[in-house]
Amino acid sequence: MTAPERRYGMTSWWRRSTAPERNGNGVGGRGDLVHDRHWDVVVVGAGITGLTTACLLVRAGARVAVLERRSVGAGTTGRSTAKASVLQGAIYQDLIAAHGVERAAGYAAANTDAIARIGALAEATGTDCDLRTAPAATYTIEPDAVDRIVAEFDACRQVGLDVELLEDVTELPFPTAAAVRIPDQAHLDPQRYVSGLARWLEEQGCPVVAGAAVLDVDEAGGGVEVELRTGTVHADACVIATLLPMADRGGFFARTEVHRSYAMAVRHDGPPIEGCYLSIDAPRRSIRPLVHAEGPALVLGGPGHRTGVGQHTDRVVAELDAWAQATFGAVTPLARWSAQDYRSVDHLPFAGRMPRTDRIYLATGFGAWGMTNGTAAATVIAETIAGGAGAFASVYDSTRLGGATHVAGVVSANVSTARHAVGGVVEGILDDAPTPTCTHLGCRLVSNAAEASWDCPCHGSRFDTDGAVLEGPAVEPLAADELAEPAESGP
Ligand SMILES: Cc1cc2nc3c(=O)[nH]c(=O)nc-3n(C[C@H](O)[C@H](O)[C@H](O)COP(=O)(O)OP(=O)(O)OC[C@H]3O[C@@H](n4cnc5c(N)ncnc54)[C@H](O)[C@@H]3O)c2cc1C
Ligand code: FES
Repeated sequence: MTAPERRYGMTSWWRRSTAPERNGNGVGGRGDLVHDRHWDVVVVGAGITGLTTACLLVRAGARVAVLERRSVGAGTTGRSTAKASVLQGAIYQDLIAAHGVERAAGYAAANTDAIARIGALAEATGTDCDLRTAPAATYTIEPDAVDRIVAEFDACRQVGLDVELLEDVTELPFPTAAAVRIPDQAHLDPQRYVSGLARWLEEQGCPVVAGAAVLDVDEAGGGVEVELRTGTVHADACVIATLLPMADRGGFFARTEVHRSYAMAVRHDGPPIEGCYLSIDAPRRSIRPLVHAEGPALVLGGPGHRTGVGQHTDRVVAELDAWAQATFGAVTPLARWSAQDYRSVDHLPFAGRMPRTDRIYLATGFGAWGMTNGTAAATVIAETIAGGAGAFASVYDSTRLGGATHVAGVVSANVSTARHAVGGVVEGILDDAPTPTCTHLGCRLVSNAAEASWDCPCHGSRFDTDGAVLEGPAVEPLAADELAEPAESGP
């Protein structure tokens, strides 16, 4: 088959401008040391969720090791637009409708707490990550959508957020029809943040091992066994912070949807923009300032799609470029990239104990708001491991059904059940031209030319042209004979 060819750089500004610090210590080097000890907790995944969890546990006195498949920040964290905001589009009206005011207020409180916690953790670990306080706003340019902004304003007030309702956001170079705004939110460089956390962890004696892909996690003998290709790591507990868990005892693959969206960093000649913005219009627009030595700069976010579905990357990238030029004048692109995140069917993330286990924990379903939700999830998990029921545990309850009633039975998490659960999707894909088969649950992959990858439309696993897993719940590489087979592919 024709392998996807890379057509763009697609490396995030943060990954491009920050030398990856923790790429070299893969298992086989000093990473072998993790096999020699029994750990209190093994954390899988070195993004914001895993590393924040590890920091909180280490501060509480636990002996922790972090295992990372690629490198620190190599997942969605290093490709985030990294606004830390409690205002998240029109989420509060959806949360109140689905869960009531009390639970929605708990979500607002957890996200508010997380912004403060990011600042405190950056300070405690000596991490300089260009963290800046800024107002955040949700806006529309469409007169027809003003009612939805007003409804979000009302919903925010109900959950206790100190928001204001505006007609026009004067610092933006285009008129808005309505906006809801809140002060004292933040934006940061997410790669420098997690690199700083990882450096601090290693200074405390907590190894952060890159190149350590975890194949499975299971409970055994009153503890957990964490399986790597190099052997088994033993611990009292394991936290799976890999976006979607690879050892999924709760059927989270069927309770979340994966979305891929696009971003770019630009320099511009206009007046600096101070706030963070997200539109509720189609296409969605995200705007935030970028700290840059040479003057005003922005990180812009654009539309998205389900991973591996409707993937017209050329068109999306060109559209985002054209909008940037038309809106902000002569802009100089610094980087373009894409990333993905999972959102739960019922709008709330999951964080806490893995269903049907006692010692395995997970966090997922951040809905593209994992700077704060990943931090809050880490807090919930660290407090649960310490034996307490933290303030936000019930908000992120990992044992709730979470809108899974329509896929009853998925919790057994096996191939046949998965095919049943997402049957329409799988059937449709299997009917298409032969492309490699996903090693997670057997869906057919789609070519992603812009990033030279094979992408899975079912649960977001992605593979490079050599078949190695890039991201997602898959743990095994693509079969070599499938990669060798010549055939056409692509959306
Ligand atoms: C385009 C885009 C923009 C976004 N912008 C914002 C924003 O402005 N504000 C906000 O709050 N959120 C934003 N988000 C969401 C946020 O970036 C994510 O929710 C957050 O980074 C998730 O962090 P994480 O640590 O849970 O996952 P990740 O950062 O993906 O980390 C998981 C890690 O686990 C590793 N891993 C996976 N499988 C294994 C395995 N088997 N063994 C070992 N390691 C493994 C991965 O390599 C990865 O490093 C955005 C998301 C996207 C897609
Ligand atoms: S990611 Fe689940 S089948 Fe591919």
